[in-house]
Amino acid sequence: MEAKDDVIFKNRLDRHHDELRWLYMELYQNGDMFAELCSKMYEYYKIRREQLKNRDESREKETNWFQKKDMLGMMLYIDNFAGNIKGVSEKLSYLKECNVNCIHLMPFLDTPRGRSDGGYAVSDFRKVRPDLGTMEDLSELADKCHQNGMNLCMDFVMNHTSEEHDWAKRARQGEGEYMSRYFFYQNREIPERYEQTVPQVFPTTAPGNFTYLPEMDHYVMTTFYPYQWDLNYRNPRVFNEMMYNFLFLANQGMDIIRIDAVPYIWKELGTQCRNLKQVHTIVRMMRMIAEIVCPSVLLLGEVVMEPEKVVPYFGTVEKPECHMLYNVTTMATTWNTVATKDTRLLKKQMDIVNRLPKQYTFLNYLRCHDDIGWGLDYPTLRGWGMNEPQHKRFLNDYFTGKVEGSVSRGELYNDDPVTQDARLCGTTASMCGVECAGFKGSKLDDQEGEMVRAVRLDIMLHAYMLTQSGIPMLYSGDEIGQTNDYSYKRDPEKAEDSRYIHRGSFHWDLAEKKENPLTVEGAVFQALNRLEHIRRQENVFDRNAEVYTYDVHEDAILGILREYQDERFIALFNFSDKSEKAWIQEEGIYRNLMNGEKVELNNIIIPGHDFLWCKKIL
Ligand code: GLC
Repeated sequence: MEAKDDVIFKNRLDRHHDELRWLYMELYQNGDMFAELCSKMYEYYKIRREQLKNRDESREKETNWFQKKDMLGMMLYIDNFAGNIKGVSEKLSYLKECNVNCIHLMPFLDTPRGRSDGGYAVSDFRKVRPDLGTMEDLSELADKCHQNGMNLCMDFVMNHTSEEHDWAKRARQGEGEYMSRYFFYQNREIPERYEQTVPQVFPTTAPGNFTYLPEMDHYVMTTFYPYQWDLNYRNPRVFNEMMYNFLFLANQGMDIIRIDAVPYIWKELGTQCRNLKQVHTIVRMMRMIAEIVCPSVLLLGEVVMEPEKVVPYFGTVEKPECHMLYNVTTMATTWNTVATKDTRLLKKQMDIVNRLPKQYTFLNYLRCHDDIGWGLDYPTLRGWGMNEPQHKRFLNDYFTGKVEGSVSRGELYNDDPVTQDARLCGTTASMCGVECAGFKGSKLDDQEGEMVRAVRLDIMLHAYMLTQSGIPMLYSGDEIGQTNDYSYKRDPEKAEDSRYIHRGSFHWDLAEKKENPLTVEGAVFQALNRLEHIRRQENVFDRNAEVYTYDVHEDAILGILREYQDERFIALFNFSDKSEKAWIQEEGIYRNLMNGEKVELNNIIIPGHDFLWCKKIL
């Protein structure tokens, strides 16, 4: 057995060794540290549990397992969802009912209270936050997920550590070895030079990119919050140690590792310190390291940027980097379409994505734990007579319910008085009008009422998300139309950060209504369930299907055509709140997959915020 194991490792190492060494030496010119990395990789391989090694072996044979049409993810906060990790284990049956087979556990590693950025300031990469459980609980959960056909995803926050991380504490004591793992400066000279070219991530909640530490009389680089110290990846010790942490976490049974804020990990004076070529070198090395030690583990890159910046993180066919990336521009453009009721920009964006190679896997989502940044194609909007600041203001006014007729209830995030570049927070349901309709006492039995319309929009958006190729990722709570949670305002540790408005506790009491279609929870849950089942069953959702937008000569309606072998599927989504006609002339008979009825696609009327999913049958 020993010997067979060693052969497997050796073969995998041989496959990547030369390229890995080349990249490592290019970056670090340090053969000893490279040798250390190789021997540590072997150690992590040796201690990898047998069942995980089996998982590696079977997934190496089926490398595109994650691109199957039955993949459905959900991201959730352990405490909000089920108190602790053991609680999540007990709730797997609920997630199964949601058809979820990939669980993204939001950050759960140890992090200081009140200075944690929702867990994105890690003080110990090898310890679970005590109130959530232990590493053993995590491994047990992973095993249980695997037994139930589910995958587990976690964040690897690699750009920075918490100021309470052991390295940071030692750096604070003035230990040079540890100071060199961060970016320390004695005076403002270099920080000021950086500030000239580096944009700010949190202009209101955490302005600037450096923090002054009075006890040391030094500045430290803090791109995100002042308590998140940027790691210095020029130091090979940082790279190696972080890779050991990565492998340690992978060995707990993770299937997907989300590499947080990855574009930021390499810094260079005179640049924006984003997406530098060394970032790609590092991601490529991580990919090879994973393929050597734990090849079933996939990399999900968090690159919240415009498409030209995102796509390079897939790497090339010979030198792949991330297995999957967020379809962030499509997400932002979707919400833009909700506000403008004009699908032209969305069509354009979808055409860009549809033209990309099919092996590029995107994660599609409506909402996640972060704000929505208005990263849209402004040159195109400008061509249509819209200017950027004004349009952003319109979107923010729309989603905060300030525009006449808007029923959306969102909140601004990092409203920068200088750039006026505010972003937006809120749950899908609140942004679709469920919250507003609820306050007015509107109920689902009123067919023309506000609640019916809000729920319809919510479902339509999910249907549209599920129509796209890639992995649909639900945000916990959205499956029952959960609205905003304002309780964060009473918590001084959260009050400043409006992202907590959509990070509320999961309402198990409301979830109990999921079988009753006359409740919001039931209406949303049942519709999503139906959509998800159809997506699993129908071949047109195969990742190899040809996907096009379909022009129906009505800007409020988005048409999508999916073709696979001889099957043809057409989806129509009306983003307007009024009935609109899709000017479409399709031969033959279609079946409405939602209700089973036959339809002819002949200049068809779609009610406001409604959709049609249909497949050609004759
Ligand atoms: C990522 C996370 C975000 C966090 C930031 C800093 O962008 O999604 O929530 O604030 O990284 O770690």
